[in-house]
Amino acid sequence: MDFKSNNSRILGVFLLLCLFSAIVGQSTIPSKQDGFWYGEKKSEEDSVLIEAFFDPVCPDSRDSWPPLKEAIREYGPRVKLVVHTFPLPYHDNAFATSRALHIINKPNSSATYDLLEAFFKHQEKFYGKATFNMSRAAVVHQIVKFVSKALGPSYLSTIKSGFTDTDTDHATRVAFKYGCLRGVYGTPFFFVNGFPLPDAGSALDYKGWRQVIDPLVKKPKRYLKK
Ligand SMILES: *[C@@H]1O[C@H](CO)[C@@H](O)[C@H](O)[C@H]1NC(C)=O
Ligand SMILES: *[C@@H]1O[C@H](CO)[C@@H](O)[C@H](O)[C@H]1NC(C)=O
Repeated sequence: MDFKSNNSRILGVFLLLCLFSAIVGQSTIPSKQDGFWYGEKKSEEDSVLIEAFFDPVCPDSRDSWPPLKEAIREYGPRVKLVVHTFPLPYHDNAFATSRALHIINKPNSSATYDLLEAFFKHQEKFYGKATFNMSRAAVVHQIVKFVSKALGPSYLSTIKSGFTDTDTDHATRVAFKYGCLRGVYGTPFFFVNGFPLPDAGSALDYKGWRQVIDPLVKKPKRYLKK
């Protein structure tokens, strides 16, 4: 066996291994769908589905939440909402605060929204500048304290242990990857019935939501059921 063909055989095996690991890497399909359902998950076949991608420390995500919440309440069960976390790499602590939401969603999905609102309300505590001189451990400790203050001391052990549970890290990564697969590149980012809304990265006001949703819910059922 000459040296050259042996070398190319090794190269061939190496390439196969790379291909194999790439395929395996791609097929890490999560066992359940990503996202935090707002209110009852059960949706009518003809209800409008809004998907929102939020970064808990993004000011535009914060500003877009109250009008969206109002619109969802207005339309009731005809409009369903699911929120995904999408931590932007240029926002410090975006991943850690997103992870806190995934940790809390496990025991109580409605508390997730209380926590999201608390993060939005006190976002500046977790901005890059405010935490610039803090270690990662100190930031996590601050988030743990923040969560137990916002939701109550009964959540202290959940949030504390959640940050050492690799499952919650994984869930936060899955949410991010899911956003990437959908072409999300900023927050807030909205999809209505699977279609992206224009003006990604800017907040839509209540009137804007009415303009989007009204024509969809006014259509008679028979046109929607195709
Ligand atoms: C879940 O959270 C909601 C809102 O924070 C609260 O009202 C409810 O009692 C909690 N449920 C459980 C089982 O802890
Ligand atoms: C970080 O700490 C240094 C040294 O104490 C201080 O000079 C600097 O102003 C601090 N930066 C921020 C953003 O707080």
